Amino acid sequence: MPRSVPVVLAVLLALALTLTACDGGVHGTPGGSGVHDPYFPRAGNGGYDVGHYDLKLAYDPAGAHRLTGTATLTARATQDLTAFDLDLDGLHVDGVTVEGRSARWNRAGQELTVRPHDDLRDHETFHVTVRYSGTPQTLTDPDGSHEGWLRTADGALALGEPVGSMTWFPGNDHPSDKATYDIAITVPKGLQAVSNGELTRETNSSRGRTTFTWHTAEPMASYLATVAVGHYDISRSTIGKDRLPAYVAVDPAQTKASRKVLAKLPEIIEWEEHTFGAYPFSSTGVIVDRPQDAEYALETQNRPVFPGAPDTTTLVHELAHQWYGDSVTPSTWRDMWLNEGFATYAEWLWAEDHGGDSAQKTFDTLYAHGEDDHPHLWSFPPGKPSDAAHISDDPVYVRGAMVLHKIRQKVGDTAFRRILRGWAAAHRHGNADTGDFTAYVEKQAPDEDFGSIWRDWLYGDGKPETR
Ligand code: TRP
Ligand code: ZN
Repeated sequence: MPRSVPVVLAVLLALALTLTACDGGVHGTPGGSGVHDPYFPRAGNGGYDVGHYDLKLAYDPAGAHRLTGTATLTARATQDLTAFDLDLDGLHVDGVTVEGRSARWNRAGQELTVRPHDDLRDHETFHVTVRYSGTPQTLTDPDGSHEGWLRTADGALALGEPVGSMTWFPGNDHPSDKATYDIAITVPKGLQAVSNGELTRETNSSRGRTTFTWHTAEPMASYLATVAVGHYDISRSTIGKDRLPAYVAVDPAQTKASRKVLAKLPEIIEWEEHTFGAYPFSSTGVIVDRPQDAEYALETQNRPVFPGAPDTTTLVHELAHQWYGDSVTPSTWRDMWLNEGFATYAEWLWAEDHGGDSAQKTFDTLYAHGEDDHPHLWSFPPGKPSDAAHISDDPVYVRGAMVLHKIRQKVGDTAFRRILRGWAAAHRHGNADTGDFTAYVEKQAPDEDFGSIWRDWLYGDGKPETR
């Protein structure tokens, strides 16, 4: 086969060049500076997988609003590495070590590139520690909303969807790399610090500061990590026969307005367990605070954040995300409707089960809107948002929920409820994309044809012609 000779020679030459370019025993390359997310291409990094974040933070809301942090990541290399990136936006890096040896690093935009003293081998577990400090930033997203480190009247609140966690700790800031967390926050005495997971320690130092240590035992995407610093009215309780711990922290100015709706937390959790299956995490709760520059709720893991007293529907929505979004996390930001379509459908089901409109009625009312009187609703398909500025628009939330209703119409109520619970169980604590979902549904109802639902409702442009 003479034709392949030049190919073989070219391969050998390339190999020789690669080999001579390396000095030590490991022939590594740098990990990538992004994971090719279709909407946020620089988010996340290639070449490693984080298993655990250990964050030690100190924050003083007075004066310079200074944050001091030490982040130790336990990660596994997924290739031979000469260097790798972390995402970090703003702040000042004071030093980096890898496996305890000081490492070289440099910064360009949101990329912190670390060059370990020794190359890392594929599959090797390693520890990287970054010491940093400074005044953390608020980010403006493509849709004009604010996230990242937000100030409140008496402290701060960190919100990270989609890429704001990099404003307060270095990491692999993409939903595809979930990890466990230990977050310790030291604040001036008299203030409190609330985060994800369970409060394992509260210690007072002789220097007039208090450290709150929070442990997140189940895998968490970085966008769901939060810290709230300030004065809070705190109530602790347990829910249900399994005594699920609940930790509720409310800005004292919002306590009165929040009391009635927050009393529904046990009822909502129990209804959601009945509807979606076992609660996926070891604790629950709520944070109510008033960030400057942001007025949205967010499904931060274990305890969602509300920018003021929530209404029942929003509480149902954010708690439903604990199953859909937090436990089953989208593989990329294109799969957002797997979060928002489900959380919106949870609102419809809650109404239906509590004396409100049936989901069918809600669907019909929405479908009655045409492309001219409700252009927003039909402006792009839920399975393929037009661009990063529109990932939280109506088609993702409302038309996403309509996709679920179409499935329900086809398979019937019993099979549909089985799909809701089964989907949450099948990808519990993991990641999934839209293709995983359509394959799952088809497997649950092998005799049905979902072709037109996927084609017209999930991926089709414009208002589907048939309902
Ligand atoms: N996920 C939030 C919710 O549904 C809304 C939200 C807040 C959001 N920030 C975002 C959605 C950034 C997309 C991007 O309650
Ligand atoms: Zn939502």
